[in-house]
Amino acid sequence: VPVPNIRNFSIIAHIDHGKSTLADKLLETTGTVQKREMKDQFLDNMDLERERGITIKLQAARMRYVCDGEPYCLNLIDTPGHVDFSYEVSRSLAACEGALLVVDASQGVEAQTLANVYLALENNLEIITVLNKIDLPGAEPDRVLQEIEEVIGLDCSNAILCSAKEGIGITDILNAVVKRIPPPTDTSQKPLRALIFDSYYDPYRGVIVYFRVIDGTVKKGDRIYFMASKKDYFVDEIGVLSPNQLEVDELYAGEVGYISASIRSVADARVGDTITHFSRKAESSLPGYEEATPMVFCGLFPVDADQFPELREALEKLQLNDAALKFEPETSSAMGFGFRCGFLGLLHMEIVQERLEREYNLSLITTAPSVVYRVNCTSGETFLLFVNNAHSQVLHSANPMISSNFSKVECSNPSALPEPGLRRSIEEPLVKIEMLTPKDYIGSLMELAQDRRGEFKEMKYIAENRASLTYKLPLAEMVGDFFDQLKSRSKGYASMEYTFVGYEESDLIKLDVHINGEPVEPLATIVHKDKAYPIGRALTQKLKELIPRQMFKVPIQACIGSKVIASEALSAIRKDVLAKCYGGDITRKKKLLKKQAEGKKRMKAIGKVDVPQEAFMAVLKLE
Ligand code: GTP
Repeated sequence: VPVPNIRNFSIIAHIDHGKSTLADKLLETTGTVQKREMKDQFLDNMDLERERGITIKLQAARMRYVCDGEPYCLNLIDTPGHVDFSYEVSRSLAACEGALLVVDASQGVEAQTLANVYLALENNLEIITVLNKIDLPGAEPDRVLQEIEEVIGLDCSNAILCSAKEGIGITDILNAVVKRIPPPTDTSQKPLRALIFDSYYDPYRGVIVYFRVIDGTVKKGDRIYFMASKKDYFVDEIGVLSPNQLEVDELYAGEVGYISASIRSVADARVGDTITHFSRKAESSLPGYEEATPMVFCGLFPVDADQFPELREALEKLQLNDAALKFEPETSSAMGFGFRCGFLGLLHMEIVQERLEREYNLSLITTAPSVVYRVNCTSGETFLLFVNNAHSQVLHSANPMISSNFSKVECSNPSALPEPGLRRSIEEPLVKIEMLTPKDYIGSLMELAQDRRGEFKEMKYIAENRASLTYKLPLAEMVGDFFDQLKSRSKGYASMEYTFVGYEESDLIKLDVHINGEPVEPLATIVHKDKAYPIGRALTQKLKELIPRQMFKVPIQACIGSKVIASEALSAIRKDVLAKCYGGDITRKKKLLKKQAEGKKRMKAIGKVDVPQEAFMAVLKLE
């Protein structure tokens, strides 16, 4: 296909506004995927994604479409929809010239709509507004169009009314893609520069890289060079995504495709990296590459200590596919052997945990997420708590697969915090956060930010009904339920973005939890002094709810050093699961006992007390 007949676009939308349904309809209408081979929602193909209804990883599809007798090649690049993955969204948008902005005609502009539109505008994309779900009785296309014009400032005079479900407006959309989105510029003569917008690990062929050729051409057999990871490989296979992989000889500037080159880990070919030729390197890489910086850490421990090797293997496998996942072995007196893992954010953490449990059949205990503190000791020494600049000796040389883990950092534990007399100060990471919200929720969100030790910076109106609030906030206050709170307080309408701004000294102390008189290390947290009492109280109350009663009385205490600041107690109980069973129905008895045994698996024994998984998440979910 000649370059003027190529269109590269993506679909941006708030969750549930119909992105996947529309993508499917486009594939079906262009005959790219036959109806009978169409799984529901072709583009979202990870099980977990489908269940949670969110797009996590990117995919792409090439469609053939004839408009006014002229054949076109339309490349649809999918984007993930969550704030944890906004870097990946921005990279896939950078691979496009245009975007379909899908807005639910019965809902209107929502948080993710805005966040995504801004990313699209930053990337200079031509935006085609699509009002979806016009078949719904509650659809109000006029009101929603006005809202889009007002809030985003887009001209909606040529917006398309559509029902992805009923197939209304689909050809209008395809025609608009051809007519309104500009073709790529033909820069095939320049040295190769291709932007990676997705990559995944295939156990047979190694990493498969999805990319958009920005300049130059690339073909099978070429020696390519990744400008960020500085690795070079020979191209084994090159092709297009139709949407299944289809081998071709060569790809030119403007085209979208995949490469396989016996690459062993996605960390070597990360989203945002630039591919060039080894012997004719581009002068500069494409803009916008960022290292994956884990912002949130937690410990993962197998419930059954024998599963430690399996957990390691599973993490290694997941990491082949997820360059943002970092991990390092850790031991804990309470939990035994496990790993401290670093994630982009909380959703990323939950996804990894769920995949480990579901796909690898592991029972895990997750400790409360934490950030990296900087501790200045009275000896003049400074060290990072959870992460340390010293070399991490564990496992690295032995296993090249994980050599990229924490190459600059070393993890330790809250228990490593020196006694108060030995430390001068603790510094914590701060972020600048910007929240966009309809004006009705301004008060509630300001309260939220203030409650989380936020320092007010700025408020401005971006539209008559919409404001932007800027705060400086400790990252630790954000890794908890901040995002959930923002969503629920604003009925889902507010969106947020944050950037790391640096470290600052703060009045932080270590809060310990003792269960049945024994300190439970994984429950220890670092908190601000002013919050120790309320957190201690809330924590002990929560643990009391979550820990099943035992056959003896169990005290639950929150302590600062040796001082108990809050305390609860579980009263004793004798639990007989067979009490419900009358007579001698042995199969039912067995079933109940089996169920109880399974329930037990999810528990971790702390001394004589079984503590369920939820308890370890309690520290995070406190109100
Ligand atoms: P994420 O993957 O979470 O971003 O969601 P999405 O934007 O891909 O939404 P999806 O396509 O999964 O659609 C969400 C829901 O809206 C589904 O239940 C669809 O069946 C429904 N839906 C999508 N398009 C239409 C439409 O045109 N009309 C009606 N009535 N329902 C629709």
